[in-house]
Amino acid sequence: MGGERQRGEGRASGKLILLGEHAVVYGVPALAVGISRGLEARAWRVAARAERSAAPDARPGLDVIGRHTSEDATLAAAYAALLAAGEPVAGDDLAVRVHGDLTPGVGLGFSAAAAVAIARAVESLVHGGAAVPAVQARAMAWERVFHGNPSGVDTAAALLGGCIRYTRAEGPRPFDPPACFELCVGFTGTAASTAAMVARVAELRNAEPARFEAELAEVGGLVAQAIAALERSELARLGALLDRNQGLLAGWGVSTDAIDVLCRTARAAGALGAKLSGSGGGGVVVALVGPGGDDGRAATRVLEAWRRLGFGGFRTAVGAGVAEAKE
Ligand code: PMV
Repeated sequence: MGGERQRGEGRASGKLILLGEHAVVYGVPALAVGISRGLEARAWRVAARAERSAAPDARPGLDVIGRHTSEDATLAAAYAALLAAGEPVAGDDLAVRVHGDLTPGVGLGFSAAAAVAIARAVESLVHGGAAVPAVQARAMAWERVFHGNPSGVDTAAALLGGCIRYTRAEGPRPFDPPACFELCVGFTGTAASTAAMVARVAELRNAEPARFEAELAEVGGLVAQAIAALERSELARLGALLDRNQGLLAGWGVSTDAIDVLCRTARAAGALGAKLSGSGGGGVVVALVGPGGDDGRAATRVLEAWRRLGFGGFRTAVGAGVAEAKE
């Protein structure tokens, strides 16, 4: 690793959780995939204070698509935690800018993608390269400010992309399904609060511990079966597993009317299965529409059915040979 460079850059993918959100907080595995939408960060040292007023683009601090640390206390605290993690980096004369095409606050892993992109940009500015453990430590410090006790699944998906099985104890285990599959993502139109939804599930766990333990074990089984289904390219089976996980999540109080409508509409339009993805309470729905390579006809039908009801969405392909997910 060399000394400090002129500029550092970093990118990270957004993510979708296919199965196991919320359960993953309690140690159960989750299945997540990276998507092509993501965020890019640039980091550089700004001019000395006296020269700053004349220099364009020379404000120190972090700007995430128009939100700057000078105006947002939580963002400032998360950025400070990221810079302080591991080998501390001085932030006084550091400028970092984040841009990209990921929608914030809907379960697509915006916060984790921002954290990983920023950590990569800062590490490559300071060290000339971005080692995974250093990036991960910085990103988790950021995520703790936003989410309290994150399971780490979002950070792992943003770091690695592709398909991962994730548990708190074992971390991420990437795997490669033999064939590509296609997903549609539908926007409910309202934001999702991860902390509020995690708290709602915790209340249910306290109120009905025996039922919750049994359902956690069931989610663990669904994730194991989903990985086996993906390895055998049994997509109809995978769709049924998504539907069952949605039923359990609804029972935990994190689904909404809009999520239910999006799921039902997707299935009626030919999706093999559909569920909320991420914390729920709003945010996005993921629908499994089938194998890649049918020119996206199934995906078009689902997106069109959602559009007729006033819901936006996009398609993304995941798995073997998908270097860049199509939309
Ligand atoms: O922040 P979201 O919406 O991607 O949800 C994160 C997934 C949860 O399982 C709900 C929380 C966690 O820390 O894993």
